[in-house]
Amino acid sequence: MQKYTTLILAGLVILLGALLTGTLIFVNNNPPQQRAMQPLVEIKAMEPDSSQWGINFPNEYASLLKTKLNTTDTTYGGSSKFSHLEKDPRQIILFAGYPFSKEYNDDRGHEWALTDVRQTARLNLKAGDPKETHATCYSCKSSNNPALWNELGLEGYDAMTFQQMTDSGKIQNSIGCANCHEAGTMRLIVTNPSLEAALKEQGKDWRTFSRQEMRSLVCANCHVEYYMVGEKKVLHFPWAEGTRIDQILAYYDKALAEGTFKADWEYPDAKIPMLKAQHPEYEMYTAGSTHYNAGVSCADCHMPYVREGAAKYSMHDIHSPLKNPELACGQCHTDTESVLRRVNLIQDQVYNTKLATENALIDSLTAIKTATANPASNATLLDEARALHRKAQFMWDFVSAENSMGFHNPEYILKMLADSTDLARQAQMKASQAASDPALLATGVYNALDPKPSPAK
Ligand code: HEC
Ligand code: HEC
Ligand code: HEC
Ligand code: HEC
Repeated sequence: MQKYTTLILAGLVILLGALLTGTLIFVNNNPPQQRAMQPLVEIKAMEPDSSQWGINFPNEYASLLKTKLNTTDTTYGGSSKFSHLEKDPRQIILFAGYPFSKEYNDDRGHEWALTDVRQTARLNLKAGDPKETHATCYSCKSSNNPALWNELGLEGYDAMTFQQMTDSGKIQNSIGCANCHEAGTMRLIVTNPSLEAALKEQGKDWRTFSRQEMRSLVCANCHVEYYMVGEKKVLHFPWAEGTRIDQILAYYDKALAEGTFKADWEYPDAKIPMLKAQHPEYEMYTAGSTHYNAGVSCADCHMPYVREGAAKYSMHDIHSPLKNPELACGQCHTDTESVLRRVNLIQDQVYNTKLATENALIDSLTAIKTATANPASNATLLDEARALHRKAQFMWDFVSAENSMGFHNPEYILKMLADSTDLARQAQMKASQAASDPALLATGVYNALDPKPSPAK
């Protein structure tokens, strides 16, 4: 009898233990519960002032403010605005004739977005100049935007010049709560009308997205490739064919052919209509990366949960996860050291491959410039060379302007660089054929049969 009681008791203990473990695992895998209390203040729809939201959510607000204090760098990223042009002067050549050859600094925290856009040497504030910067450049810098888009409409907003928008005093806050959350419900939402439109063009509606998908999609309000349409400079994402590099290139080629899009700039002395890529983190990450396929979101690495006393919340101090790998990666990888070594390897490899691609691009530009200067050059071949170069440089830029130095999707990114190098060498050979003047060939400018990356020029 005694024996049975012990057995039953032991069984009960095991059962209770299992239940407790189960509950703990469940709780651990669920979002932190909001305290069941009335909000302290009612936040009005699209409230631009994050400090108002901060009354109800002090932890999230305080951590967002910390993005202003981050200053340290990692090997390839981090939070100072170091100059990419100083670090790698090849880019001055690659962006010649375009504002990026004047200034191209690394990104830093969300609290700096407004200050930095107002300070950049890339702005053209000359009233009436056909190249005057439009208000469109404020699109991913301010929590005032959702309310302004609502008030002015996307076209009304973008039609204003940057200076008019600044003078209107309508933009006062850097990135904040209203860029990612709906007041009241606090759910994650798409706030940028151009993202909404781009999804629609693909037959997608974000309202049907899962919570985990939204934890990446909110970043796509800004961390994406875009361009500006027409005189009003309306913000548009080139996503109608899809978000992979070949689909985006196909989109631009079509828009260029149909005349709905004018190239971003013409490369001086080579007469190449060029494309400039912008921070395509979302497109790169979601193109079948290991983490994306495993269901990991941007917020998992960049906004890990932190505990402060009894509170558990998403860290809104968004920065390089290499600065807090225990939190950012340790939640899933027990051996943080070894995954960090992998990151180093990946980034070094991508960086070195990227430099080799840049050398190929510079060789191609040199060959196209020389062929352009020669009136005897074959115009058809030369145009083919230009088209190859545009494509090659855009692919390189897609990698270079993406801010993870390859980590977000290593295989895809290395393939893109390999393709870019190949296209650049093809462009170089075509240009040398176009100007196949024996005297020029003898100068050795066109090492067409020896497509090894040559040192930077
Ligand atoms: C698996 C983890 C992980 C995921 C998921 C992830 N990232 Fe990253 N991200 C990183 C790492 C690692 C770096 C490299 C940081 C460095 O070099 O210092 C990085 C770099 C960045 C940077 C540049 C940071 C800097 O210091 O300049 C940005 C911006 C960024 N990621 C945005 C995103 C966006 C947007 C998404 C989702 C579309 C995303 N990341 C998804 C890990 C991740
Ligand atoms: C760049 C986008 C972004 C901005 C800006 C932002 N949040 Fe969040 N916030 C998120 C994401 C992503 C989550 C995770 C949501 C989830 O897991 O469902 C989150 C979660 C939250 C939550 C749920 C609890 C938690 O911490 O996980 C609260 C509350 C919150 N944010 C408040 C704020 C407040 C207040 C601000 C402004 C001070 C703000 N957020 C700014 C993206 C943002
Ligand atoms: C409203 C637009 C906007 C949204 C939404 C947004 N970002 Fe950013 N993000 C920016 C801009 C602009 C910068 C660069 C600011 C600067 O350099 O002044 C930036 C910078 C960053 C950096 C670099 C920080 C550093 O210290 O170097 C990271 C990392 C980052 N964002 C990740 C994310 C992630 C992850 C999300 C989604 C959860 C997100 N961002 C959502 C606009 C946005
Ligand atoms: C939410 C969970 C999660 C987070 C957070 C996370 N990972 Fe991962 N990681 C995975 C999964 C799942 C895989 C794929 C399965 C595997 O190989 O273990 C993976 C794979 C990897 C791989 C191998 C991929 C390859 O193709 O070689 C590396 C390297 C890696 N992660 C680095 C990191 C780093 C660095 C961080 C932090 C910045 C991080 N991970 C954050 C879940 C995560």
